Amino acid sequence: MVWKYVCVLALAAMLLLAFSTVSRSKVPRIKEPPGASQIPSQFTEEERVAMKEALQGAIQIPTVSFSAEESNTTALAEFGEYIQKVFPTVFNTSFIQHEVVGEYSYLFTVQGSDPTLQPYMLMAHFDVVPPGEGWEVPPFSGLERDGFIYGRGTLDNKNSVMAILQALKLLLIRNYIPRRSFFIVLGHDEEITGKNGAQKISALLQARGVQLAFIVDECGFILDGFIPNLEKPFAQISVSEKGGINLMMEVNMTPGHSSAPPEETSIGILAAAVSRLEQTPMPNMFGEGPLKITLEHLANEFPFPINIVLGNLWLFQPLISRLMERNYIMNALVRTTTALTMFNAGVKVNVIPQQAQATVNFRIHPAQTVQEVLELIKNIVADDRVQYHVLNAFDPLPISPSDDQALGYQLLRRTIQSVFPEINIVVPGICIANTDSRHFVNLSAGIYQFNPVYLQPQSFSSIHGINEKISVQAYETQVKFIFEFIQNADIDRMPVSHWHEL
Ligand SMILES: *[C@@H]1O[C@H](CO)[C@@H](O)[C@H](O)[C@H]1NC(C)=O
Ligand SMILES: *[C@@H]1O[C@H](CO)[C@@H](O)[C@H](O)[C@H]1NC(C)=O
Ligand SMILES: *[C@@H]1O[C@H](CO)[C@@H](O)[C@H](O)[C@H]1NC(C)=O
Ligand SMILES: [Zn+2]
Repeated sequence: MVWKYVCVLALAAMLLLAFSTVSRSKVPRIKEPPGASQIPSQFTEEERVAMKEALQGAIQIPTVSFSAEESNTTALAEFGEYIQKVFPTVFNTSFIQHEVVGEYSYLFTVQGSDPTLQPYMLMAHFDVVPPGEGWEVPPFSGLERDGFIYGRGTLDNKNSVMAILQALKLLLIRNYIPRRSFFIVLGHDEEITGKNGAQKISALLQARGVQLAFIVDECGFILDGFIPNLEKPFAQISVSEKGGINLMMEVNMTPGHSSAPPEETSIGILAAAVSRLEQTPMPNMFGEGPLKITLEHLANEFPFPINIVLGNLWLFQPLISRLMERNYIMNALVRTTTALTMFNAGVKVNVIPQQAQATVNFRIHPAQTVQEVLELIKNIVADDRVQYHVLNAFDPLPISPSDDQALGYQLLRRTIQSVFPEINIVVPGICIANTDSRHFVNLSAGIYQFNPVYLQPQSFSSIHGINEKISVQAYETQVKFIFEFIQNADIDRMPVSHWHEL
């Protein structure tokens, strides 16, 4: 979903809205613990050519999810054969098992040498949305032009699928044996809810009693050039994801002739109800979610007096939260949003209809639940004649920890600092739309979303848009990131340290 990426814009807009200049302060680096990254992440020219070509081949398979019911199943099956052909080492290593779930999705179990370490999971998806019209190069060509590989899926999300398998293969041929076990989930229907892929894999792992130390999925990026005056890019790791409700509201009244109308009609009653919903925004939840932590982390990056304002949110919270409401993208970060999307009633010009129906789409803030939002809706509407039908609903992802001892978060942070030494700002954020990781809430309290790729405003609009592309160098860096991340994950726990001390 394109809204998945709005988190990126949202954070940018927030900063843009409130502040104009940013200083260049230093964040203390994490001290390398003993035992990290033993195998250097350096690849031969031949390996680099092979990894590029493997990605190009993956882009050429049109694994399109057309609609909730329709996918290109020929392409999905072909994709499975393709990864077996390109990564035989991964499929033929004694300590790696693979299973095909829901016909096309893949679950890999990589057995580590130390069973006392809790496993983790890497996730990605290989279905793509339809390419649309107007591309500079054919969307399934995987053509290289000016140092970029073009095609649907180069950012969302075959880059991650291929980089995970590629990094694992490169580790295996260097005789790497992991200490910590991990799973790899490659979904085939993420763009259409993941119910046949990720959801079934989650059920399978729950039935096996698996619990995970943490999960890493797509969504966050390294944001570059989104904020004027902030020359430095920064990394955003999503620690939560909004929930949603599609609610159908209905009013039934006695039908009649328009020549002698009753005082109130189904249309009038329902219109008033949805109008009340639109005019009464859900409560501003600023301070209840990761956004506050994000601002506190960023405080030191800003000059006086912004650093003081952000560093003292206990005092300035009301001011900041009001500022944020004024921008519609920021507004989506601070509250559950209400969007009226459908309204149907009436059949004939002179007939008062019996029934009126409207559908409202809510995106739930991480600090609220489906149940709480439904209660609020009924209180706002306050009319017993309105009936409610929940078409579908899911809670936001719980907020994953981002403190010093949060293993998944700190491993991402450490790997960012090693692979992207130029980045000295790493902040937690919210993913505004949905990924496959929401199916795994029962398996882990630490669900993180991060794509180790630079995202500029123009590449942002290519996701689900046209001319989606990734630079060859960015893709190599993504492989390097995962290559180091898997090794970093072999440590027992984050060393007790004082990373925030200045
Ligand atoms: C489905 O994918 C196959 C290749 O696997 C391709 O030949 C075919 O054109 C695709 N169908 C559609 C409708 O895109
Ligand atoms: C996997 O490895 C075994 C033993 O090394 C070998 O006999 C077999 O042919 C390999 N299979 C594939 C598909 O590479
Ligand atoms: C989580 O576990 C509960 C209780 O077993 C179950 O009802 C629910 O469906 C599970 N949720 C997911 C997303 O698997
Ligand atoms: Zn997508």
